Amino acid sequence: MTGIAPSILAADFANLQRDVEMINSSAAEYIHVDIMDGMFVPNISFGMPVCQAVHKHATKPLDVHLMIEQPDRYLADFRNAGASIITVHYEACTHLHRTIQHIKELGAMPGVALNPHTPVEVLSEILGDVSLVLIMSVNPGFGGQVFIENTYKKIAKLAQMRREGNHQFLIEVDGGVNTSNAGKLFAEGTDILVAGSFVFNSHNPVQTIQDLKNAVVK
Ligand code: DX5
Ligand code: ZN
Repeated sequence: MTGIAPSILAADFANLQRDVEMINSSAAEYIHVDIMDGMFVPNISFGMPVCQAVHKHATKPLDVHLMIEQPDRYLADFRNAGASIITVHYEACTHLHRTIQHIKELGAMPGVALNPHTPVEVLSEILGDVSLVLIMSVNPGFGGQVFIENTYKKIAKLAQMRREGNHQFLIEVDGGVNTSNAGKLFAEGTDILVAGSFVFNSHNPVQTIQDLKNAVVK
């Protein structure tokens, strides 16, 4: 599958309903919601009330990316705020298996995210339990950063692990995504591309989402 999850981190927060409705009217599969706590990452974005406000207007499932320490404390809150997918960082979870089970019990799809320096092999024993693996292609914390080229290698390796283990999880890539790298990212095995600034800074975001979805190797 080739899916797009526009990140509302790059939206106009004073016109959030308008921007959510733009995503609703587009070819996007999900709405990506970036939660930052100023601890796990050096930035603060927004929390549950904003997530809930987005959910109120969204017709697409919310893909909530928790860039926070001790995510277990807030899983139920984000589920109640409308999250369909809840992704936690491998680097923030000492008891990742327990956290994943908790997300499932709440009725959401569990995802696990990896920072750029974390090898995909660390997930070998949990791949059968997750619905999604998010490969960060920038260091998390800010939109508008430059894509890290080493990401391709990680996706290829993860896609191989998925094949060999006969697993079903989706592969999502997040950070610095644009139409120059989207085709190759899909070709390596990515299912969902997150895109923030490339979508929201474009003149025609709905068309940009379609262009990303249709991207082929250049
Ligand atoms: C970065 C966030 C991303 C961010 C991507 O820490 O996890 O989801 O919104 O933004 P762009 O597409 O601008 O790199
Ligand atoms: Zn994200």
